[in-house]
Amino acid sequence: MIMPKRMENNDPKVLKVGMIGGGSGFISNAHQRAIFMDGTRRVVSGALSSNVEKAKEAVENWPYPIEGYDNYDELLEAELAKPENDRIDYVLILTPNHVHFDPAKKFLEAGIPVLCEKPLTFTLEDAKTLAEIVQSKRIPFCVAHTYLGHWTSRLARFIVQSGLIGEVRWVDASYLQSWMAIQSRDPEFVKTAWRLDASKSGLSNCGGDIGTHALMQLRYVTGLEVVSLSAHMESLTPLSESVEQPLDDHITVYCRMSNGSPALVRATQIGVGHKNDLRIEVNGELGSIRWAQEESEKLEVYLIEQPERTYYRGGIKPNDGFFGDIPQELLDEPTIPWGHSEGFHDAFARLHRCFEADVRAFQKSEYEAGDGSSYATVDDGVVGMSFIKKAVESSRNGNAWVDC
Ligand SMILES: NC(=O)c1ccc[n+]([C@@H]2O[C@H](COP(=O)([O-])OP(=O)(O)OC[C@H]3O[C@@H](n4cnc5c(N)ncnc54)[C@H](O)[C@@H]3O)[C@@H](O)[C@H]2O)c1
Repeated sequence: MIMPKRMENNDPKVLKVGMIGGGSGFISNAHQRAIFMDGTRRVVSGALSSNVEKAKEAVENWPYPIEGYDNYDELLEAELAKPENDRIDYVLILTPNHVHFDPAKKFLEAGIPVLCEKPLTFTLEDAKTLAEIVQSKRIPFCVAHTYLGHWTSRLARFIVQSGLIGEVRWVDASYLQSWMAIQSRDPEFVKTAWRLDASKSGLSNCGGDIGTHALMQLRYVTGLEVVSLSAHMESLTPLSESVEQPLDDHITVYCRMSNGSPALVRATQIGVGHKNDLRIEVNGELGSIRWAQEESEKLEVYLIEQPERTYYRGGIKPNDGFFGDIPQELLDEPTIPWGHSEGFHDAFARLHRCFEADVRAFQKSEYEAGDGSSYATVDDGVVGMSFIKKAVESSRNGNAWVDC
């Protein structure tokens, strides 16, 4: 009989996932697909909306029966009433930023691993509290920085950190969107969009929402940290008078990295024509790499006095000769043959897959704290929150340089 690998490993269990939020919004659909993709994880319960009626409706419309709850406290209570083996294996938090901390803290304290959307929390203090709990309980925690899950992000990280392009001299990491320019023309939208509301979004709109993705991409690919910064956090879209405290829709952050080199982290929501244009360019003393999420299967590599190279997901052979020893886990990772396109959903699935491995290890008391090589950890989430806080501080103080 042929058995799946997890059965050979004597681990036939399909992981049970609880979902908080996720009754609406494209991101919930992306997570649902990612959870389902390998057949080893399944959503079994949810508190799917802040609105009880909508939560019920979302449960009724789920493609198969799941347990629905009016709120996440009830969900947790129901889980804790079950024998430990029957409980959810991890919880997924898909709510707006101001509703990340409370459920994350409660589920962690109950010993349930958490996969949480970004930015990690509403305040830096809350993020640090979560990190302390994660550390003291040694429990898996993932922040959903989607784009680390692209195979080409993994390859970019390997190339830069193996030294192929030499010492990093300059990084340009950006996330450019247009939705504010378009949707702000509708005054009703402005009134209802939680991202524009400081009491739900936090200190920053654009910076927290997509600037943190650009920062995370920089840190993940280069392995460098931002040690100081000078920021412009701007609100360039005229909003109706009902918005008392307009948050940024455009950020430009000039950074000094831990190797002494400069970098630019920028993000905008007003760039008409840009869709989800996350891109990174890392320039080293010997060459550079360029990657853009809208063409996420492709990585460009330029070395001085060498032919220009474009690599595609899956198109690298172990004995390439150009890269040296490519880690086996990188070669093993692609889920489908090259030429068949992968994208956003596969990146999410890769995060869930890696998180699943840590959850299974945790349940066998074999978990070692995530090192951030396969998904963003709670500590990465803290760095993101700190970056935003410092950027706002710098911007309010005439773009003064601030240590991170
Ligand atoms: N990783 C990514 O690429 C990515 C992309 C988009 C959004 N996000 C993040 O996902 C989160 C949600 O964003 P969105 O655009 O999906 O928002 P959304 O407004 O479309 O959806 C939020 C959902 O959370 C529900 N909710 C709110 N409070 C709740 C509560 N107390 N209990 C249960 N459900 C509750 C709402 O009813 C809604 O269904 C944000 O933190 C955002 O930054 C991440």
